[in-house]
Amino acid sequence: MPEVNVIWKPQKMQRIFMSRPEWEAFYGGAAGGGKSDVLVVEALRQVHIPWYKGILFRKTYRQLGELLDKADRYYQKAVPGARYHAQQNMWAFPSGAKIYFAGMQYTRDREKWQGWQFDYIAFDELTHFLFDEYSYLFSRNRPSGPGTRVYIRATGNPGGIGHGWVKQRFITAGLPLTPIRHIVSWTDEEGRPHRDVRSRIFVPAKLSDNKALLKNAPEYRMNLCMLPEKERKALLDGDWDSFSGQVFTEWRNDPDHYTDRLYTHVIEPFHIPPHWRILMGYDWGYSRPFACGWYAVDERGKMYMIRELYGTNGEQDAGVQWDVARTAAEILRIEAEDGNLRGKKIERIADPAIFQRNSEGSIAQQFERCHIWFIPGDNARLAGKMQLHYRLKFDEEGDAMLQVFKTCRNFIRTLPSLVYSAMDPEDVDTRQEDHLYDQCRYVLMKRRVTPPPVQKPRIRLDDPLNLGPYGR
Ligand SMILES: Nc1ncnc2c1ncn2[C@@H]1O[C@H](COP(=O)(O)OP(=O)(O)OP(=O)(O)O)[C@@H](O)[C@H]1O
Ligand SMILES: [Mg+2]
Repeated sequence: MPEVNVIWKPQKMQRIFMSRPEWEAFYGGAAGGGKSDVLVVEALRQVHIPWYKGILFRKTYRQLGELLDKADRYYQKAVPGARYHAQQNMWAFPSGAKIYFAGMQYTRDREKWQGWQFDYIAFDELTHFLFDEYSYLFSRNRPSGPGTRVYIRATGNPGGIGHGWVKQRFITAGLPLTPIRHIVSWTDEEGRPHRDVRSRIFVPAKLSDNKALLKNAPEYRMNLCMLPEKERKALLDGDWDSFSGQVFTEWRNDPDHYTDRLYTHVIEPFHIPPHWRILMGYDWGYSRPFACGWYAVDERGKMYMIRELYGTNGEQDAGVQWDVARTAAEILRIEAEDGNLRGKKIERIADPAIFQRNSEGSIAQQFERCHIWFIPGDNARLAGKMQLHYRLKFDEEGDAMLQVFKTCRNFIRTLPSLVYSAMDPEDVDTRQEDHLYDQCRYVLMKRRVTPPPVQKPRIRLDDPLNLGPYGR
């Protein structure tokens, strides 16, 4: 047997990731699992083919340094004669194959790759990207010549602007290590219909999978153990329900508590007493989803979100493009059919932007022609956000001033994924799927509550005099 010089050998989960046949695969979870390493090495798979082209993305050029260091470490040793061309951030191989490294700080940066084609496209830290940035590259994923394999790979940790869509696309859409089938249909030039399947898969990453790191730096696990709880769960255990930067950290969706309605915001639907008032919130959207929420208010002013209508075409953050008449008809249909809404007087509050007039009058006026009358909502963003915080807070009995019927699936999916904006660290980043949150803000601003009393912290067992960290 000739002697083999092993430069890099995949560990168990890396091997599974590298052997998956699906078009899209996401290796995600804990920090230090060995995710970036495998992405950089996977790019080498086809460098013997002269026309092969691969590209690896990180969010910014600065962050790209980490991938380039890995390429430096492995590429020349793996393929003697491989050369790095710094001006183009590109590795060229003796066969003629090329691997590019790129940042995509702003969505417009994707245009740089218009007209290019790549056999292998990889995103490191996918949760830092918007879905539009990721999906644009689908159009660049085609063979650069005969015989190449064409596929997309990505890695990432929980948290970040893309947390919501990455979680939805790869984590909640199916089970780990089980292909998620996406049926694609289209019509050809002759008008013949076609259907095919595109598959994707989620490969979970755990720190314990990276034996090489734990052997070299056994103390790294301790670093992660010392993080605050949210970050620790995300980065040590790869927990997708927990991440830093989350806005509504008080949100609880605990099925064990649905029926007793305590310490959970999500509950089983129930019949609303006829005298409770009903409100409805509306956020305008056409190419992005529109969002409606119906709320019942009890005698104490507690609100229940009892129904949602979300205008999405099923693609990530894409709207159904309905005109006002169609939207109004759907709203009125729901209100006629839902036993909790039928025959009720409904107070409607909308995105104030729909009151702006253009040549056809305002959108609000178009709704009036369809027998739906809105009043403009208060769009004070921070005050609205605080109202939601106040209402989500549990009192000492475990009750909260806002609870949501479990049938409001899109609200339940999108609210906990919202993250803070980098521009305004107090506010929600508006580039996310925040439409159901927006309609909720308009409604809550119409029925404001005062901040709940600050609960006295419990006495810690190791601090029986309750002196706190600084003494009395
Ligand atoms: N198969 C392997 N053989 C040897 N070392 C490896 C292997 N896989 C990963 N490592 C090493 O483990 C360390 C962590 O790996 P890597 O940077 O890929 O982790 P990561 O999952 O991307 O981490 P993060 O979540 O922080 O981005 C690196 O030093 C890397 O070189
Ligand atoms: Mg990494």
